[in-house]
Amino acid sequence: MKRALVIAATVAVAVSTTVHTSPASANVPTFSKDIAPIVFNNCATCHRPGEVAPMSLLSYEDVRPWAKVIKNKVQSREMPPWGADPDHSLKMRNDRSLTRQQIETIAAWVDGGAPRGNDADLPPVPKFADGWTVGTQPDVVLEMPVEFSIPAEGELGVQMFYAPVPFKEDKFAEILELHPGNRAVVHHAGVFVVDIPEGAKIVDGRLIMSDGKASTDRGAGGAPRNGVGALPGSSKLLSWVPGRGVDRHRADIGKRIPAGKYINWQVHYNPTGRPEKDRTKLGIWFNKVPVTHELLIRQAGDPLATTRGGLSLYRAEGKEVEYTADEGTTRRRSKTPNIPPYAESWSLTGITPVTEDITLYAMSPHMHLRGKSLKWVIVYPDGHEQTILDVPHFDFNWQIQYELEEPLHIPAGSKILGIGYYDNSPKNKWNPAPEKEVYWSEQSWDEMYQPFTEYSVDSQTLSDITITKSQR
Ligand code: HEC
Repeated sequence: MKRALVIAATVAVAVSTTVHTSPASANVPTFSKDIAPIVFNNCATCHRPGEVAPMSLLSYEDVRPWAKVIKNKVQSREMPPWGADPDHSLKMRNDRSLTRQQIETIAAWVDGGAPRGNDADLPPVPKFADGWTVGTQPDVVLEMPVEFSIPAEGELGVQMFYAPVPFKEDKFAEILELHPGNRAVVHHAGVFVVDIPEGAKIVDGRLIMSDGKASTDRGAGGAPRNGVGALPGSSKLLSWVPGRGVDRHRADIGKRIPAGKYINWQVHYNPTGRPEKDRTKLGIWFNKVPVTHELLIRQAGDPLATTRGGLSLYRAEGKEVEYTADEGTTRRRSKTPNIPPYAESWSLTGITPVTEDITLYAMSPHMHLRGKSLKWVIVYPDGHEQTILDVPHFDFNWQIQYELEEPLHIPAGSKILGIGYYDNSPKNKWNPAPEKEVYWSEQSWDEMYQPFTEYSVDSQTLSDITITKSQR
């Protein structure tokens, strides 16, 4: 009897649908039709096995138990992580934030009982090749030269490993992805292309100086990186932090990996309480069409790669920061003041004069726990200003790369401003020690100011770009 009733009800629904007097439930979005496309596109890169997020979101069974939490996290815009204020930023091609419509669909699905729907409506589950986010196998995979053993305890400095670039000629990468071997211990990592000092050699992946001693080098290419402005830009291939580790460039713009140089792996490990091992990998996908321009990376405040000089500057709390020159080099070191205790809104602005026409592709703010906000402003030769990226609530947990939908042409005579604010007060919930002065250095309780900016120089064709020592 009961069974007959159910069948009768089903028939009634079917009939009413065909005569378009849909019952309320027919308006409830379903997982298969409405939710899966959103989750596969906007969440799955992180919410899948082996990735950064705590749970996988690749099937109805995965998603259903989280329905209510998902509704909350998307309505509060905590998920997916995205920091650009859409009203004060240009459109980004990798914008993974949800539209108001998508958020409403998720809420309606959850409020309607989170139904599964018809499996026939399901879009294909996204495929990820062997842990690579990109979805295909890289053309080349480079591994850290040695497997590194991380002790159970203690504070490890950034570990530096070196290996020769394995190519006979310069190669250009369209996509680079860094893949930690052991996520439990890799805190952050970066890969650079460097020269090694004269007389130095590489033994077991480590740099041994001409006097036979291990290098105490902490930064790419020689200089300790204890100050804003000292970081070499164009030698950086990419970096990895949780939620970030893939750089996709335009089809005809390549990141150069020059033959004859050395790959420098810089890995910061956090011990877990038991001995661990790691061997991090770099996946490289070469450009598939001829490369017209080389991608360069600088931070706002550093001079353009082709015009090193004393033109650029930093302002701390509105006052110009002084520099000292490293003896015998073209490197300058800034004397950026430390952030005072309890300062709530301490500003640091880097200003890069644009000395020739460039095209800007992407930006990524990097700060540490006191980082509060960072924005990029272009001042054009006629004086008008344009904010191209505004991250009003910088979140250290999400190091996001913002890729412009349309590359931005910036004429010579303009300036690129990176306007950063820091909060060293107790109001900042991440602040480990508001009573302390904050130094500029690597550890997350120190600070950094790195408004990384990716661009190419319009007049340069590949034949005339050479990475010389002074341009590193
Ligand atoms: C860039 C990576 C990334 C993306 C993209 C992302 N998430 Fe997450 N998500 C995380 C991480 C990491 C956590 C755990 C840390 C946290 O809660 O901040 C998390 C946590 C969550 C939680 C809370 C889990 C808990 O334990 O309470 C929910 C719910 C969630 N994500 C849903 C989503 C949804 C829905 C999307 C897509 C619309 C999405 N996330 C996109 C990385 C991501």
